[in-house]
Amino acid sequence: MEYIEKFRPQYHYSPARNWMNDPNGLVYYEGEYHLFYQYSPFDNLPHFDKMHWGHAVSTDLVHWEELPPAIFPGEDGAIFSGSAVVDHRNTSGFFDENGSGLVAIYTNNGNTTLPNKPQVQSIAYSRDKGRTWTKYEGNPVLFPDATLDFRDPKVFWHEETSMWIMSLAVQDRVEFYQSPNLKAWTFASAFGADAIGTHRGIYECPDLFPIHVDGDVNNRKWVLILSVGDCNGVNPYDPETPAGGSGMMYFIGNFDGKVFTPDDPIHSMDDLKWIDYGSDFYAAVTWNNTPGEDGRKRWIGWMNNWRYAGALPTDNWRGNNSVPRELKLKQFAEGLRLVQQPIEELGIIRTPLKTLEDVMLATDVNSLVDIGANSAEIIAEFEIGTATEFGFKVRKSANEETVVGYDNVRKKLFVDRTNSGKVDFHPDFAAKHEAPLAPTNKRVRMLILIDSCTIEVFGGAGTAVISDTIFPDPESKGLELYAIGGSVTLVSLQMNEMGSIWHDR
Ligand code: FRU
Repeated sequence: MEYIEKFRPQYHYSPARNWMNDPNGLVYYEGEYHLFYQYSPFDNLPHFDKMHWGHAVSTDLVHWEELPPAIFPGEDGAIFSGSAVVDHRNTSGFFDENGSGLVAIYTNNGNTTLPNKPQVQSIAYSRDKGRTWTKYEGNPVLFPDATLDFRDPKVFWHEETSMWIMSLAVQDRVEFYQSPNLKAWTFASAFGADAIGTHRGIYECPDLFPIHVDGDVNNRKWVLILSVGDCNGVNPYDPETPAGGSGMMYFIGNFDGKVFTPDDPIHSMDDLKWIDYGSDFYAAVTWNNTPGEDGRKRWIGWMNNWRYAGALPTDNWRGNNSVPRELKLKQFAEGLRLVQQPIEELGIIRTPLKTLEDVMLATDVNSLVDIGANSAEIIAEFEIGTATEFGFKVRKSANEETVVGYDNVRKKLFVDRTNSGKVDFHPDFAAKHEAPLAPTNKRVRMLILIDSCTIEVFGGAGTAVISDTIFPDPESKGLELYAIGGSVTLVSLQMNEMGSIWHDR
C-alpha cells in the first residue's frame, strides 16, 4: 500500500515518489481541478536541468489522483514553473472552431535558441483535459532582454481589455505582458525594481488577480503576490523574510490592463505585507477559472523552504503541499489585509473527536487532552486573562513537542518547532516562528491543522498564518493545553480527526 511511510502526510498532497516543488498550472476545467507541479521523477532531489510538470487531478480539491507527468523536458530545456488557462474563445487557434482546451504557459530553463538567454517562455496545449500536451512549434514565445532570471509566467484573461495578461518574475521586478492569442506577447510595464528594501532575494512566481473587498462586488482591488527566493546571506544588508530563507509577500493596488499601481508607497521593509510567517509556504498561486461565485479565490503552496529544501528527512518522496486555502481581502482598522482559511471542502474528511467549553487554564495545572491524533484539526478560542503565554503542545511525547502558542506580552502567535522531533538535518530548521496578532475583544482564535509532517496555524481572522513542516515520531500523538504566568479561559475547543485522503475513501 502506498502513502504509509514515516512522515507521509495523510491529507496534504505529495507525489507517490520523488521530488516535488512549486504548484504549477492550477486550473479548473470540465469538472476537474488540475494540480501540476515542478517534478523531478528520478529521486528525491531537484534536478533543475530536467524538471517536468507532474500532474494530479481532483473533483473536490481534497482527494487527489496522481497522473503521469504532463510536460517533459527536451531539446527546449527543462520545464520550469508556469500556469495554465482555459482558452474559451480559441484565441490561440489550437482548438476546434467552437471548442476550447487548455494552454500551458511555462518557462524553459536551459534553452539554447538564443545565446546567453537560457530562460524563455514557451506554450503547449492539450485537447484531452490535460492528459497529453503538444508543445507549440513556434516556441519560445518570449525572450528576455538581458537578465538570466526571467521566469514563472502566470497568465489570466483580462476582460476589460480583451487581452491575456502575463505576470513574469524578472530578477528584481515583475514584468507584465499582454497578448491577444497567447503566442505574441508585448511588454506592458514593470513593477517593483524601485520598491526599496524588498530585494533580499530574486523574485519568483508572481500572481496578479482581482478580488472583492469584504465580498462586495462593487468594490474590487487587485492583489499582486510574490515569492522571494532565499538570498542565503549573500547580501547582508538585505532584510530577512519573517522566518528566514524563501518567503512570500503581497501588494494591494489597482491594475488597468497594463500597469499595477500599489495603494501605498513601499519605502522600506515596514511597508511590506507577508503572506505567511512560518518557514514553509512558498510559490503559492491561485486556481484559474474556478467555478462558483465571482471573486472566489483559492490557492495552494509548496510546504518547504529553499534554505533546506533538499534536506527534509523523507525517504522516497520529498515535498508536499499546504491544504488548499481560500483567500479573501478584508478591511481592518489598520487597512486592507489578505486573510486565508482552509477551504471548507475539507469538512468531508473531518470527524469530531472532542469538544471543551469554558475551561480555566492556569500555570502548572496543564490539562492533558486524553485524545491524540496524527492528523487533526483544532479550533480554539481563548479569552485573555493574566497568563503571559498560553496555547497547545501538539504531537507530544515524553521528549518531543511542537508548541503553538500566544505570547500575550508581545501580542504574537507562534509555532516553536525547536523540539518538534527530527530537526538536525539543517542548522536553521529548529526555530520559533512568530506572527503579529492583536486580540479581538480580548479573545484569540486559532485554527490548527496537523498532519504527519506539517502544521498550519490560522490566527484571528486569518491574517496571522504560520505554516511549518515538522518531523515528529509517529508515536508522538499527545496534546496538552498550557498557560504560563497566570490564567486564561479556553472559551471553546473543537478537535476533529482528519481522515486520510489516500486510505479513507
Ligand atoms: C521557485 C522556483 C521557480 C522556478 C522553479 C524551478 O521555487 O525557483 O522560480 O521556476 O522553482 O523548479
